[in-house]
Amino acid sequence: MNTNTVSQLLAKDQFGLEIEIKGWVRTFRAKRFIALNDGSTINNIQCVVDFENTDEDTLKRITTGAAVHIKGELVESQGKGQKVEIVVKSIEILGDSDPETYPIQPKKHSFEFLRENAHLRTRTNTFSAVMRLRSSLSFAVHKYFNESGFYYMHTPIITGSDAEGAGEMFRVTNLDAKNPPLTEDGKVDFKEDFFGKETNLTVSGQLEAESYAMSLGKVYTFGPTFRAENSNTSRHLSEFWMIEPEVAFMDLAGNMDLAEDFMKSVINYILENNREDLEFLESRLLDEEKTKPQAERSEMSLIEKLKFVADNNFKRVSYTEAIDILRNSKPNKKKKFNYIIEEWGADLQSEHERFLVEKHFKCPVILFDYPANIKAFYMRLNEDGKTVRAMDILFPGIGEMVGGSQREERLEVLKEKMAALDMPEEDLWWYLDLRKYGTAVHSGFGLGFERLVMFATGMTNIRDVIPYPRTPQNAEF
Ligand code: 4AD
Ligand code: MG
Repeated sequence: MNTNTVSQLLAKDQFGLEIEIKGWVRTFRAKRFIALNDGSTINNIQCVVDFENTDEDTLKRITTGAAVHIKGELVESQGKGQKVEIVVKSIEILGDSDPETYPIQPKKHSFEFLRENAHLRTRTNTFSAVMRLRSSLSFAVHKYFNESGFYYMHTPIITGSDAEGAGEMFRVTNLDAKNPPLTEDGKVDFKEDFFGKETNLTVSGQLEAESYAMSLGKVYTFGPTFRAENSNTSRHLSEFWMIEPEVAFMDLAGNMDLAEDFMKSVINYILENNREDLEFLESRLLDEEKTKPQAERSEMSLIEKLKFVADNNFKRVSYTEAIDILRNSKPNKKKKFNYIIEEWGADLQSEHERFLVEKHFKCPVILFDYPANIKAFYMRLNEDGKTVRAMDILFPGIGEMVGGSQREERLEVLKEKMAALDMPEEDLWWYLDLRKYGTAVHSGFGLGFERLVMFATGMTNIRDVIPYPRTPQNAEF
């Protein structure tokens, strides 16, 4: 006898086979039918108990949530919807569950409730499907880069530099919060701190990735990233995972090609490998959409949306063209936007991005060549002297999925930009070195992994696609 997974057993057709299986009881019906799940698939296997030959105590302990070890025989199923089932010969209760207090009842729970029970929510179909997809997508990310000749690089989590210059960082310190050492002018003296300088959790591995791209050629990072922005939205986390490739000798056009090819590849991967989970999530989404007014419902099903992205070119639009479209749009003219687009140079808000992808183009859009003053210091200045070689990739229902750019490779231009922003050269001396010794055109981007998982699963709140979400005022578990 060998121990199997539910997924393996459901694929077998050797009737009469003696098998063993361990898992958790989802439901127990009519003192006879156990729906057993072990996480290996969205599907349960039906285990039929012979209640006349099973003692009353054991029968009582077969409750939703209990862990069990079953030995029995694989037989052709009599019921509908499944090919095989198990005739139970012996059942051992490995871990009891209390049906009175077990939070995951066999009924519909709200996502808010399940967030409060995030340690148990992967015992539901929705969350087990989402997390299996998350795992598959991570694998597809590594597979893509590995097969494309990239090296995986681990960039530091604790850093002394603020890559995005947005100042939204979590400080890392072991100074006494009540009584920190002070400098003569009364400021906290970070020279006394653990690292002898002020340090934070990283907002991006980009700057370090650039240094490796300028020696190893093609690298990527995929790790946790931290932002202390106080934005309590359905698309922001304080701790999220970012994928950041960085490539030497590649310009912005190459960067767009890479990002598009990469995203299509990982989406194709799950279409090929996670069909059952996607079909389940598709039907879940359909049910959810039925509760919405017609106008807000999506025109495509989940799988259709994924195929659409995999099969169609992303639309490439310059910032300047986008501003023209927005300025002449209905919601702008009728003052329906919260921020009215008056002139070139305006920063785009998510309402504008959503208008462009959801109403105007109805497909993923790559916006490029943004005004220099609304983008980060490291982006390559264009010949016009006012725009930078930046790109953002916007997705329907998600908004910004990717932010990237060609990097400023000219030492003097980079120094001028840093000076204009009061960024001390000493802080980034090593970053400037890359422009001093063998500088070259190079580019990269950052993709917010949870936003990709949202798109792939049709989930609408980013808190539901990461195991234990960290958001303002919330770090439970
Ligand atoms: O646009 P961002 O800030 O770009 C960078 O950090 C660059 N250094 C990347 C690079 O060029 N290597 O962030 C990149 C992506 C965003 O497009 C978004 O998908 C995601 O990271 N992101 C977040 N995801 C969840 N929660 C947040 N608070 C996020 N902030 C950014
Ligand atoms: Mg961005």
